[in-house]
Amino acid sequence: MLKEVEKRGMRLGKYELGRTLGEGNFGKVKFARNIESGQGFAVKILEKNRIFELKISDQIKREIRTLKLLKHPNVVRLHEVLASKTKIYMVLEYVNGGELFDRIASKGRLPEVEGRKLFQQLIDGVSYCHDKGVFHRDLKPENVLIDAKGDIKISDFGLSALPQHFRDDGLLHTTCGSPNYVAPEVLANRGYHGATSDLWSCGVILYVILTGHLPFDDRNLAVLYQKIFKGDVQMPKWLSKGARNLIKRILDPNPNTRITVAEIKSDEWFKQDYIPTIPDDEDENFHIDNDAFSIHGVTPEVEKDPGQPALINAFQLIGMSSCLDLSGFFEKEEASERKIRFTSNYSPKELCKKIEDVVTGMGFRVQNKNGKLKVMQEHTGQIRPGNLSVAAEVFEISASLYVVELRKSYGDPSLYRQLCARLSNDLGVSRSQEFLTSQV
Ligand code: ADE
Repeated sequence: MLKEVEKRGMRLGKYELGRTLGEGNFGKVKFARNIESGQGFAVKILEKNRIFELKISDQIKREIRTLKLLKHPNVVRLHEVLASKTKIYMVLEYVNGGELFDRIASKGRLPEVEGRKLFQQLIDGVSYCHDKGVFHRDLKPENVLIDAKGDIKISDFGLSALPQHFRDDGLLHTTCGSPNYVAPEVLANRGYHGATSDLWSCGVILYVILTGHLPFDDRNLAVLYQKIFKGDVQMPKWLSKGARNLIKRILDPNPNTRITVAEIKSDEWFKQDYIPTIPDDEDENFHIDNDAFSIHGVTPEVEKDPGQPALINAFQLIGMSSCLDLSGFFEKEEASERKIRFTSNYSPKELCKKIEDVVTGMGFRVQNKNGKLKVMQEHTGQIRPGNLSVAAEVFEISASLYVVELRKSYGDPSLYRQLCARLSNDLGVSRSQEFLTSQV
């Protein structure tokens, strides 16, 4: 199958695509200009194949419908959704001040007054979305953008239908992506509420803003998880008492006793110079608009018919992805694709047995060397080491939580992806499943 590649200058309906702004979660983000008004936008490009493969079409449909209803100055606005045969294009508000992450990386920590202002805006945006029943679940400074006025705009709100571990690379996890911002109850896969775990991430962000460092960090993943589970955070003495107290209350590893949004908003340190942001939909009657998820069909590259684009139902569009062509997902193999991790509640012994069962069922052969599994591809009874070689290792995080790490030594990327998908599906704990269950 031919891969559609978005080129600079390519037309997308009334937009002209420009430079790549980022390779963010689950796809590229490109700059786009509305050729009628000259206004700039950011276009997030989703591969329908991936959505199709994950069987999350209706979840995506629901979430995009909700996203179109979020109108808050501190949340990146979704203007419209366009689609081609293989892709979904989310036309977003363009935010031109970069990521909060870059600002802290270049300037170091922010002064308390400046940091508090940003944190107040973060909480305003987050609590607005929570009030509408939308949770982020992947809040980190990279998802917090800064506009020309220096105000915060949260991106990727409500895109939780794309499980964390399928983002970035279409593989199973933010491969070796840092769990530094993730709440302990989320890491433990023990069922959680989107609101409290988003607040935990806000607490981590506040700590990063005010200190320039991560509150939980360690090169050893198991040690890092343990620090997060204990809420074991070092508070610099020079930080004001008010800031320290608030951070401590947010980074409470017990989600049942963790501070709530209402309590944050009445905290003395938080309240200083606080001017709540007024949502843009304050005067509107907030209602579910059944047409909100109408996707405009476009022909990328050249808009053949400049007239009104056909309105197609999103479900039909996603369904139009005719085949599942895993081989076309990546033009080049990223180094990060070599290593993936997922959490599991199976014991190491069960995991080894199950990995062996799954991989032998897929035609691979397994060698167990001191608890490290080596997976090799077998071809008509012969092992052909040139094809695929993967190492699997299990780390204990807590009594009932383990991390499985898969590492490819060499071999076919698409085969490796299939293997990873299969193992994570069968052995990992699906966060999207949990989300659905917790919503019922
Ligand atoms: N990168 C990701 N999303 C963006 C946006 N909305 N504006 C600018 N850059 C972005």
